[in-house]
Amino acid sequence: MTSFTRIADHERPAISVDARAVIADIDDNIYGGFTEHIGRCIYGGIYDPGNPLADENGFRKDVIEALRELRVPVIRYPGGNFVATYHWLDGVGPKADRPKRPELAWDGIESNQFGTDEFLKWCEVVGTEPYFCLNFGTGTLDEALGWVEYCNSDKDTYYANLRRKHGRQEPYNVKYWALGNEVWGPWQVAQMTKEDYANKAYQWAKAIKMLDPSECIKPNLHALGGSTTVGLIDMHSIHIYTTSPEHVKNATAPRAAERHIEITAGLIDLARAENHIPPTVPRQKICFDEWNVWDPVRAPGEQGAEQLFTLSDALAVGVWLNVFVRQAKHVGMANIAQSVNVISPLMTTSDGGLVKQTTWWPLLLFSKYMRGKTLAVNVRSGEYRGETSPAWVRGSMDTPWLDVSAVLDNGVVNLAVVNVHEQLDFVTEVAGILQASGQQQVEIYTVTGPGVDAVNTQEKQEVGITEQTWDGRGIYTFPKHSLTLLRWTLP
Ligand code: AHR
Repeated sequence: MTSFTRIADHERPAISVDARAVIADIDDNIYGGFTEHIGRCIYGGIYDPGNPLADENGFRKDVIEALRELRVPVIRYPGGNFVATYHWLDGVGPKADRPKRPELAWDGIESNQFGTDEFLKWCEVVGTEPYFCLNFGTGTLDEALGWVEYCNSDKDTYYANLRRKHGRQEPYNVKYWALGNEVWGPWQVAQMTKEDYANKAYQWAKAIKMLDPSECIKPNLHALGGSTTVGLIDMHSIHIYTTSPEHVKNATAPRAAERHIEITAGLIDLARAENHIPPTVPRQKICFDEWNVWDPVRAPGEQGAEQLFTLSDALAVGVWLNVFVRQAKHVGMANIAQSVNVISPLMTTSDGGLVKQTTWWPLLLFSKYMRGKTLAVNVRSGEYRGETSPAWVRGSMDTPWLDVSAVLDNGVVNLAVVNVHEQLDFVTEVAGILQASGQQQVEIYTVTGPGVDAVNTQEKQEVGITEQTWDGRGIYTFPKHSLTLLRWTLP
């Protein structure tokens, strides 16, 4: 949470943080990922048998290493839109027997050479929790229950035994299950009304909890409300992608996501109030299980959505991550869409090697340092006052030149500041308990590049992290178009 005071651009900005002003615990799961059967995310991304960089399972070792470095705590699979016609049984058992199917969401052919057991094994190798999305399009409840049983049951029953027959004795204990994906959208196979969705989500959640009460179940927003769903559903899912061809509109667009979080949290409270839910029942959190900067015109899904990100996009990702830290009270999980090749910070190349796009660097810094507890921050800064993307953000949210969040993590205060201004450096008072600590060495990490259009490709790396220290004395200059992460170790 930040409080914001607008000043003129020529006045001196100020940021004040108090390490005692803890607001909320940050769920590590806000640094989650997402892998879908689309483009080169699975095939050629995480799974590439025959590639010299693949291990004995066909998993790309360089990708595994990068995701470990990111400490990705949870990864969603297998879609996305893909899941609306996905039958998990097609993707288990001997590979030679697995059927090829038409893939309707992205107009492809699904070979099913990578499926449940491969994904769960890959998660174990990466060191991340799997999160499955159920087929609410052509799938049946019976099939969904079979999938839960296959993954999680230790009993002597058909699907648990099928898993054993396929070589896995112990249950995988998949904890997170989503009830469909974006079922409201006209692009979905089997689009639904909110009433139909709410009813189906309730019936499926009830049955899954009967099979295994420990499952964590997430519908999308349409299932909000109804006292009956409260004990069954653990989080509500929302998705947003932001973009604009104009830099400042692009970098401030994630403020729309912040408002969506606030609105969704309000709706959750409304549903609780209207249904007289006792305070002893935990308040459901938001699962932001698809987010990113995505321009589907630059990077169409049907062509694999391989978006080349700019420094402007990296700053937008910095603002996105500030949003999740500020709104930690409401957000139980967030999953960048996607983890490899598809609208991703991480790109595999055909001749080996990995490109870390501009957006990799803010993600890495946040995932490394912006954990623990959210701190209140006071920001005094000039503000971008032009048109926003989407337009309704103007009038609803502030769009300061300095977008800020702060955390307390094991005795270290970490402050993230995105200066979205394309031309101006801001000489800023950095005050509060940080200064009182009298510490002289503040670690500083800066992400920037020659201009907002800078990109990273196999040939050139224009955006990265530079490191320095600062004596912590009062004034710090935040360079134009940059993300700065400052770290104070408390005495
Ligand atoms: O991440 C790409 C697609 O965007 C997902 O499949 C879908 O859920 C969303 O619309």
